[in-house]
This record gives sequence, structure tokens and C-alpha cells, in this order.
Amino acid sequence: MVSQQDLRSHANMKVIIRDLKETECVCDALIITLHEGEGVARYREIDSLLNGLLSKVVSSREFVGKHTQTSLIHTMNKIGPARILLIGLGKVGEISAEKLRQAGGKALSYLCGLGLKEIAFSSSHILSVQQSPVPFVEGGLLSLYQFKKYKKEEDASKEIERLTLIGKPEPSIKKSLLWTVASSSAVSFARDLVNAPSNDMTPTILAKAAESLAGGRVAVRVLEKRDAERLGMRAYLSVAKGSMEPPKFIVVRYHGGKGAPIALVGKSITFDSGGISIKPSEGMEKMKYDMAGGATVLAVVKAASEMMLPVNLLGVLPATENLPGGTASKPGDIVTSLSGKTIEIVNTDAEGRLVLADGIGYVKKFKPKVIIDIATLTGACGVALGNEAIAMMGNDVAIMERLKTIGDEVYERVWQMPLYEEYLDYIKSDVAELKNSGGRTGSLVTAAYFLKEFAGDTPWVHLDIAGTAWTEKDKPYVPKGATGIGVRLLLDLLREMK
Ligand code: BES
Ligand code: MN
Ligand code: ZN
Repeated sequence: MVSQQDLRSHANMKVIIRDLKETECVCDALIITLHEGEGVARYREIDSLLNGLLSKVVSSREFVGKHTQTSLIHTMNKIGPARILLIGLGKVGEISAEKLRQAGGKALSYLCGLGLKEIAFSSSHILSVQQSPVPFVEGGLLSLYQFKKYKKEEDASKEIERLTLIGKPEPSIKKSLLWTVASSSAVSFARDLVNAPSNDMTPTILAKAAESLAGGRVAVRVLEKRDAERLGMRAYLSVAKGSMEPPKFIVVRYHGGKGAPIALVGKSITFDSGGISIKPSEGMEKMKYDMAGGATVLAVVKAASEMMLPVNLLGVLPATENLPGGTASKPGDIVTSLSGKTIEIVNTDAEGRLVLADGIGYVKKFKPKVIIDIATLTGACGVALGNEAIAMMGNDVAIMERLKTIGDEVYERVWQMPLYEEYLDYIKSDVAELKNSGGRTGSLVTAAYFLKEFAGDTPWVHLDIAGTAWTEKDKPYVPKGATGIGVRLLLDLLREMK
């Protein structure tokens, strides 16, 4: 046996690299890939030991190699793997990291569904077309996520125990695999926080999740309501007033490098009923995902510390519920934010920008290199871009360009929207400096413009993930529910920001 390295992913699955012959790998299933229209020549040895079964499946056109097409073959003890899973990669010329992620997601979730435990994956074909096999593994890992805390009996035994990547354990592949294992486990962590119902994901419970990251180079401080009052975070507190659940202003610091921190501010409304400007009841149950931005920030800090990235991070989660209790803020109320700016609350359902205004105000005191806020901020975000892209606005052109490129690579795509100065007029109030809603027209951009007023001249980028943080349907490597969007995007950005 040749060199081997253990990588532990989320759940209990191990990922290892081993340089051995496919036919000798004892496992429940070996995954092999084929392009559209390609013969089985590259798998000649497997084919001949199986008496031509592979060629038969391909020549009969039962399997033509279309992207994510699968065919499962039992090997009847003729070779090490008990089964061969053929998976199609589509046309040779159209191969990409994303195609591989999707194929990996399809293959691994399919085998997991069969209850198989030991899976191997042959990487030589992918390497031969100048692609890294790691995105295939990444798609696999991301696809295996399940939220089953409340369904204890169901499918409890269906978990892959080990994935063996068959290939040379080159340092670059090992490194990239380690990154992927850590980042996809952070994605699972974020998905768990977001999928949790609001009765089990209160600000207090979210603060506990943050505190679980403390230790080593991570320090966590939770500011209580009285601390927020003392500091003057009245925009944030105005949202918390309508709920019995105590608000928690969560501050997570990771010290891994030198210099000013990168500030990450995540919207953390653990349930958004709209407050007095109450939302329609249809679909309101989904508003448990209004803390997805905060979950992303925690997950990024977690992975950054596990991977010991050489950066300093300041993560802030202004956590609260938005409920219409008897003490709730009312439309027309005016509050003074931490920055001193006064805000007329014309709509209590535009609460995200209120908590973010104070989150941004708070991190500015630390003179960060850049502030990145991530938030399920507007319904208009999903109207504009559907579930396919994060809406991005900001004043830091260089970082926005980086995010655009990285977004295309990790396939958490971002699309920039404008912040024309004319939008300021939309959010001017007759009685205060700003109002928290400019109405329906342009609400995706006017919400961001509101935040811009608080960022001032600090470099700042806003990511609206309202359209992408949740999916109603299963995608190749994103099961229904919380997507964990933003985690891989921001981690890749940090990787470059040493
Ligand atoms: N959390 C919502 C935005 C949202 C809507 C996220 C749908 C995910 C899916 C936010 O707090 C909100 O209610 N925004 C309002 C603002 C409006 C009242 C100005 C919106 O966009 O409708
Ligand atoms: Mn709202
Ligand atoms: Zn909200």
C-alpha cells in the first residue's frame, strides 16, 4: 500500500487519497467517469476482467456519457470493487469545475441513497483532461448533507463512511482536498444553523453556537441588551423590542495574521415576522432563514481558524427576532443609530438594514481593512436574480472584482448592482436623516444605499443573499433548504487576502 492521508469531513465520512489499482480497491462501489460518446478504452483492464460488461453497456447506448447520467454495474467478485458506477461528464469540450461538482454530487448522493459505505473514485480520467478531481469530491461532500435532527429514525444508517480518491497523492491535490474538506464541512455547519427552526435557533442559541468556536485563535464575546444600550445601538435594539427573546450582539474574532481585520457582518434575524408591518402568513415559516448571513459569517470564521488562514477576522452577528409584541417598534418611530444618524422606521419589516447599520457602525470602530456584510436583505433580490446569483453592491471596486471572479469559480456567483447617488433621495425622510424604506421601486438597491450611508468611506461590500440562501428544490449538490451560500465564496476571498 502506498501513501495515504486521512481527512475528516463533516458527518463521519473520511476522505483519503490512495495510489493503487482500481481493480484491486476493495470497496462497495468504484466511480468511473466517461465523456459523451467516449469508449471504454481507458478502463480496458476493468472491462476485460468483467468480460466486456463495460463495453456492452456503452456499445448498447444504455450509457452514452451525458452529463450526470449514471449506470450501476455489479461486478460479482471479479474485481475488488463490488460495483462500478459509471457517471457521465458530458461533452469533452464543455468540461468545467462546476460540471465536475455536479457529477460528483449526483454520484455520491446516489450511492449514499443505496446505503453503501465504502466508495472509491478513479481520478485518472479527469486528470487526463487537465482538470482537478477535487471539485468532483467537493460536489460529493456538499451533496451528502442532510438535515435530520428532527427525523431521528429515518435513514439513520445511510451514511458513506469512506471516500477513497484513487490517484497519486501529489502535495497540490492533498492541499486542495484538505481545503475542500474543511470548507464543505463549514458549509454543512452553516446549513445546520439555518435549517434549524426559530424555536431552536434563538439569538441565545445562535450565541451558544458562536461560543462553541471559542478557543485557540478564536475569541467570542456576546454583548447583551444592556451593553447594546450603553453603546447606543438603538437601530438594532428597535428591532429587538417586539420580542421576548433577549437579543445577542455576537462578536467573533479570529486572530491569524497581522494588521487591520477584515470585518464580516452577517444579518442574524432568527425569525422575521415583519414586526408590526407584519408579513402575509403564506410562506412566513421560511423566515427562519433570515439569519443565513450570520450563519455564513460563523462558518467562515470556523473554517478560517481550522485552516489557520493568515488573516484577522472580526465577525459580527447582530442577532434578534423581529416580532410584533406589545412593545414593538411602530411605523413612524424614530431612532438614533450607533453612528449618530437618526432613522425613521417607516416599515418595521425593513429590519435587516437597521441591525446592519449598527453592525457596520460597531465594526468601524476597529478600523477594518474592509467591511463585507452578507444578508438576506430584500425580497427584491430574488425577484431580480432568482436563485442564481448574489446581488452585490459596494464602494470597494477591487474587492468586488475579486468576488465576481471567485464567485464564477466556486459557482456562488455574484452580480453587481448600481449605487447611483440618486437613490439617496429614495430614503430621505421628512423628519429624520434617513428612513428605512424607499418603497417598492428599486428596493434591492435602496436597501444597499441605506447601508452605504453607514459604511461611509470605509471600504465596504454588501452581498444580498435573499435569493440564494434557500432552495425549494434539490440541486445536484445542494439539497432542498438552506444552501450555505457565501461560505465558499468568502473563504476563497480570504485565501487571497493574506
Ligand atoms: N428578510 C426580508 C427579506 C427576504 C424576503 C428574505 C424574502 C428572503 C426572502 C427583509 O427583512 C424584508 O422583509 N424586506 C422587505 C423590505 C421592504 C419592507 C422595504 C422586502 O424586501 O420586501
Ligand atoms: Mn423583514
Ligand atoms: Zn428580514
